Amino acid sequence: MKVLVVGSGGREHALVWKLAMSPRVPTLYCAPGNAGIESLATCVPIPAEDVTGLKAFVTAEGIDLTVVGPEAPLAAGIADEFRKAKLRIFGPTKAAAQLEASKSFTKDLLLRHGIPTARSRTFDRVQPALAYLENHPLPVVVKADGLAQGKGVVVATSRDEARGSVRAMLEEQAFGAAGQRIVIEEFLDGEEVTIMAFTDGKAVVPMVAAQDHKRVGDDDTGPNTGGMGSYAPAPVATATLRATVQREILVPVVEAMAKAGRPYQGVLYAGLMIVKGKPYVLEFNARFGDPETQVVLPLLDTDFLDVIEAVVEHRLDQLTVSWKAAAAVCVVLASGGYPGSYQNGFPIAGVPPQDPTQRMLVFHAGTKQVGDRLMTAGGRVMGVTGIGLDFQEARAAAYRVAQGITFDGCHFRTDIGHRAVAATKSGPA
Ligand code: AMP
Ligand code: GLY
Repeated sequence: MKVLVVGSGGREHALVWKLAMSPRVPTLYCAPGNAGIESLATCVPIPAEDVTGLKAFVTAEGIDLTVVGPEAPLAAGIADEFRKAKLRIFGPTKAAAQLEASKSFTKDLLLRHGIPTARSRTFDRVQPALAYLENHPLPVVVKADGLAQGKGVVVATSRDEARGSVRAMLEEQAFGAAGQRIVIEEFLDGEEVTIMAFTDGKAVVPMVAAQDHKRVGDDDTGPNTGGMGSYAPAPVATATLRATVQREILVPVVEAMAKAGRPYQGVLYAGLMIVKGKPYVLEFNARFGDPETQVVLPLLDTDFLDVIEAVVEHRLDQLTVSWKAAAAVCVVLASGGYPGSYQNGFPIAGVPPQDPTQRMLVFHAGTKQVGDRLMTAGGRVMGVTGIGLDFQEARAAAYRVAQGITFDGCHFRTDIGHRAVAATKSGPA
């Protein structure tokens, strides 16, 4: 069986790595992939957004199944194009991927179905938005409606900052078309958690909960990034909370999408804020999270290929998906300057050989093989995942490896998983 993974980051390395462990031994391809993925899959130089190019490749190569990593091809309609051509693909249609691609669409859907989320209003014009801000309590959250690579959200602590964000998005087009509509939302104060679920449009099977570390610096300081590290299973997501999320959020959303004529198939990523023990939706993504995937997939016990096929063939209700009783921590190594501007092309040293016990995994993100040298080629360069019986063990394994990897300008957070270590004295929840 031939399987293509679309994308080139740490998430895609983790997807390819997990698929490679399937007892069914699929032949793997990745477009475009990275230097780490090359050891597991044939990398083909087709950009993830090139839907036409990907479709031509899949047809010519006789690929049996395509798994989409990033949001851009989903929002561009890759799943629609593939299904029209009777090509099997894991991921939502363009209409269903609106759950990620349009925050106003999602807020409207949540409101209509009474699904818990922050109170908000949507605006297309500057003056009404500014007027609405006048009496809004602070902090206030201003969000660009469309895809803005994680940069379209401003948590404003002053009215001036909020006004500036509204103007930047609606007047100055700071996010282009993505910011022509905005959502102004109340600030929720709590702990964030990510719960991703597999769904075939009917059955909804949640994965273990994870937590991402979005700020660049220790103790959640500095600007937001794509994610500097993650851990799973997040102790904040107790069994009761997970049951509430399933009942009040995941299942109703999947049902609402089906009713709206936008059946959802693939991974539904819920970004949640837990306030006084109750979950509220901050955002949905239409795909696996990065770097959450690098800690969640290592804990999946069921054959990943079986899960994906059950989703694609709409028989997820017939599969039992099980998880390992272990803890995982992923530390991201980033380029100097990231999340601002940074340089590529520095040699990387100290990457250990593959660990046969699989307690330590190196997932490449922005890397490139140039001759016999491994070079940096992106903001997030690689993620090191440690697996252990508890968080202390997982964390120690991840940092042992992270500290040995060097490249010019390399930086990483030293506190990934600290909340989990504090919350669990003896093993994961
Ligand atoms: P989003 O892309 O909507 O998840 O927003 C990015 C980040 O902004 C989230 O991960 C939160 O840290 C923060 N954020 C978004 N919405 C809110 C909110 N209503 N209250 C507090 N923080 C928020
Ligand atoms: N880790 C956040 C995301 O994947 O969007």
